[in-house]
Amino acid sequence: MRKSLPDEDNKIMKKNIAIFASGRGSNFLALAKESQRGRLKGANLALLVCDNPKALVISAANKLKIKTILASRSMFPDKKAFEDAIIRHLKKNKIELIVLAGFMRILSARFVSLYKNRIINIHPSLLPAFKGAHAIKDAFDYGIKVTGVTVHFVDDKMDHGPIILQKEVRALEGEALSSLEEKIHKVEHSIYPEAVSLFMKGKLRVRGRKVLIATR
Ligand code: GRF
Repeated sequence: MRKSLPDEDNKIMKKNIAIFASGRGSNFLALAKESQRGRLKGANLALLVCDNPKALVISAANKLKIKTILASRSMFPDKKAFEDAIIRHLKKNKIELIVLAGFMRILSARFVSLYKNRIINIHPSLLPAFKGAHAIKDAFDYGIKVTGVTVHFVDDKMDHGPIILQKEVRALEGEALSSLEEKIHKVEHSIYPEAVSLFMKGKLRVRGRKVLIATR
């Protein structure tokens, strides 16, 4: 039997990704759907890591038969033990990209350096504006007319690493917060699969704070 050449192997080899989420999981679902439609070329959605036993994302993953690891911080004596348990699962499942989607825990510098430039996050504002857990409301209350969505690599500071993609969303005069939230989430659900696909195709190069995107 003819042995396949290394290049041929690369073409068919999919990279395993893990999504980390703590809440409702709409970004998880958007990514899972794109993956099942075959639009996340080269990606195999292998794992959901969740730190919240009550999170809706767990039942979404169960329905889609996606393997789920529940690691809640209170199950471990300290943050190191908590992260070590997660790392063991990542290694066991040969995870090459970690996709944070509403994961409400800050990863340690040690964890981040272990997966340097292999962890991405989505944030519902145009970073560096409105960091933190309430970005949409903070931007709305501030009276912004343009906000948006950022996908970025994760470094050891919160909502800070090199920016991969950004897309703006306009706040209309008199618009309700709920309407702005809805528009932002809709953009998230298209921009995140796009960023994951770019990563999978090997099109992203990090140069300091800049992320270069290859066009071919
Ligand atoms: C999203 O708005 C994302 O930008 C932020 O957390 C939220 C998660 O929402 N990091 P969901 O759980 O994916 O619906």
